[in-house]
Amino acid sequence: MASYDRDSGLLELEPSPVEDTPQEIKDGYFGSTDDTENPAQPKRSATLGLSQHSPVWYLSRIQKYSSYVFTAFGLAHITNTSIIPLVTRSVPESERYLLLTRPYYQGLPAEPLLVIIPLWAHVISGVALRIVRRNINAQRYGGKTSFLSSQFWPKVSGISQLGYPFVWLLVGHIFINRAIPNQFPGGQSNVNLSYVSHAFAKHPVVSYAGFTALISIGVSHITWGWAKWLGWTPDQVTAQGGERQMYKKRRWYIINGITATVTGLWMAGGFGVVGKGGLAPGYIGRLYDQMYQRIPLVGQWM
Ligand code: HEM
Repeated sequence: MASYDRDSGLLELEPSPVEDTPQEIKDGYFGSTDDTENPAQPKRSATLGLSQHSPVWYLSRIQKYSSYVFTAFGLAHITNTSIIPLVTRSVPESERYLLLTRPYYQGLPAEPLLVIIPLWAHVISGVALRIVRRNINAQRYGGKTSFLSSQFWPKVSGISQLGYPFVWLLVGHIFINRAIPNQFPGGQSNVNLSYVSHAFAKHPVVSYAGFTALISIGVSHITWGWAKWLGWTPDQVTAQGGERQMYKKRRWYIINGITATVTGLWMAGGFGVVGKGGLAPGYIGRLYDQMYQRIPLVGQWM
């Protein structure tokens, strides 16, 4: 007999063996293939040419594979802004390499394909996944609960908690380095590593604070994110018993060790060489000042 649990709001049903289900109930439940009025749903593969996967399946894959593309851009970026400056020990020397690799990630079609589309695909699919999972939980376990109520929303992992501030920092970084220069004659061609050196020389506190947040949060998110894709986070340890804690701890130290090494490397070249490049002279310096003055809110003091 079915019983209703008032606390959980769940209806507990007696198990019903499928082979014992009378034909008429079976047809009503599963949809008869012979019923012309209520035909069974055709397989999606037949209509769309796609296999039958759930929205969660597609969204998870968009979230994952878009991050592969952005990683390729990230590797080119750390090379140009840190590793090459560390090797050459000179900003003007490093500019040559930056200009050489720029065509591969700036302009059309490289920039939308390598940066803009994967970035938004990753963030939007993550938010959409969260909404879909919340709705599945609400359908499964709950009655009517407000969409905004915290009940049923999936837990926000540490990686996701790093992801959201990273979005704002990266949008700010792209705005200052791409959107503002494009408002001036000559556009992006005026901007290179000396644009960043100029900011460090003129506004050291804002520059160090901004880049420290961008690099440390960005590198932590990406390193922990890759650990998750590879199944290497502490929560993904499969061992049970006494050794489990030891393996979890070991993974935590390794992932944070890699995060600290990459963050340190990026800062060594970015701060130690580019950050020490000094003010840009003459007309270019004045142009850079005008560009930084276009930053909303803080620009008026620059
Ligand atoms: C480049 C390599 C990247 C990797 C490997 C990566 C990895 C991940 C992973 C594994 C998650 C899921 C976290 C979880 O479910 O626990 C995630 C979520 C997220 N990522 Fe990334 N990510 C990358 C780049 C970025 C970038 C560039 C941004 C934005 C600037 C970003 C923003 C976010 C946000 C906002 C979420 C949270 C989505 C949610 O769960 O609500 N990620 N990322």
